[in-house]
Amino acid sequence: MGKVRLGVIGCGGMCRCHLESVGGRSPSISGDVKEFAEQVEIRGLVDVDVAKAEAYREKYGGEYVSDDPERLFQDPEVDAVLITTWHDTHAPYSLRALELGKHVLIEKPMAMTEKECDEILEAEGRSGLKYMVAFRCRFAKGAKDVKREIPNPDNIIAHARTGGIWPETLWAQDPLKGGGQILSQGCHVVDLMFYLAGSEPESVYAVGGVFHHSRPEVIDTINATLRFRNGSVGAFLGGDGGAGRLMMHHPLPCGCPFFVMVVEKGRSAIAIDHGHDARFESCVPDSEWKIPYESGVHSQEVGAEVASGVPDILPAFARSILKDETPPATAHDGARTTRFILKCFESARTGKIVTFG
Ligand SMILES: NC(=O)c1ccc[n+]([C@@H]2O[C@H](COP(=O)([O-])OP(=O)(O)OC[C@H]3O[C@@H](n4cnc5c(N)ncnc54)[C@H](O)[C@@H]3O)[C@@H](O)[C@H]2O)c1
Repeated sequence: MGKVRLGVIGCGGMCRCHLESVGGRSPSISGDVKEFAEQVEIRGLVDVDVAKAEAYREKYGGEYVSDDPERLFQDPEVDAVLITTWHDTHAPYSLRALELGKHVLIEKPMAMTEKECDEILEAEGRSGLKYMVAFRCRFAKGAKDVKREIPNPDNIIAHARTGGIWPETLWAQDPLKGGGQILSQGCHVVDLMFYLAGSEPESVYAVGGVFHHSRPEVIDTINATLRFRNGSVGAFLGGDGGAGRLMMHHPLPCGCPFFVMVVEKGRSAIAIDHGHDARFESCVPDSEWKIPYESGVHSQEVGAEVASGVPDILPAFARSILKDETPPATAHDGARTTRFILKCFESARTGKIVTFG
């Protein structure tokens, strides 16, 4: 099996989570992708703050550090790049990497505008390279259990409200650098909603607005209803400004009161807290469906060594390169999530139902 020589751009908090998997270092990598983690090695690291890149080089390895991503893009010894920068650079760095023949693992959200989505899809299609979005919920134990048990839901309810109010000074709240809490964090739940729905969006109607922040550009509250192309229906509630602590009685390993609930003809399930956990219920008498966990028992208590799935993301990306497989979350998935959130904003601003082309 060949190696995946990785260039790393953006050496901050989330980058460290991914680098823990390099070389199979993390004990939380699932058995089925561990061998691919062992094939990943770091070639070079880049950050605008080069001291941060150097600190990660010392801990995780690598031949060099730089403050210029072009050093990695131009390096023939780099097969793939991990992009964990702020959101305004996701699309330009993706496009440059694809142009110069590098596979891409990008943190969410893939892009900030529909134009960026179109450009990445076009470049990815033309390149024949692997392009993966690090939508972590898909890798979580509870989310995978819900997908397996209820593969064709008729109703999907997605909740992405957080506790607290994001500070105005946070880069992710900046309209240009981050796009706000719903694009930054709600995107996890939007992706999980489409993953569990197994269908594309057809139309959305949303109400919302700016309730907790001073800048009018960044909508901080969205209550949306949508129809999927397969006829099923859904709801998405996203935003900051509270609701997090209302879930305190539920164990929240990640601390996020996110959930996606699915219903299919009397069977229901809920993937909680980025999908770490799950619960199941049936109200169909004499149903042949056997719920996978006893009532009140959570996925993490039934032998799931890896609940969050984050350590599997980089290994799964390496697997897609080394086995020439489609990555578990593609540019198509990344584009659908950004477009959906932007269309929720459009609907809230215009008061109209917005359809998907
Ligand atoms: N999946 C998750 O649960 C999760 C959690 C947190 C963050 N994220 C995502 O990870 C990404 C990074 O977020 P973070 O929390 O690690 O932020 P961070 O600020 O901790 O790290 C970002 C790093 O990128 C560097 N950087 C910024 N612009 C750069 C540029 N143009 N070139 C090179 N380096 C640059 C910064 O100096 C910083 O070190 C974002 O896309 C964010 O949405 C995902």
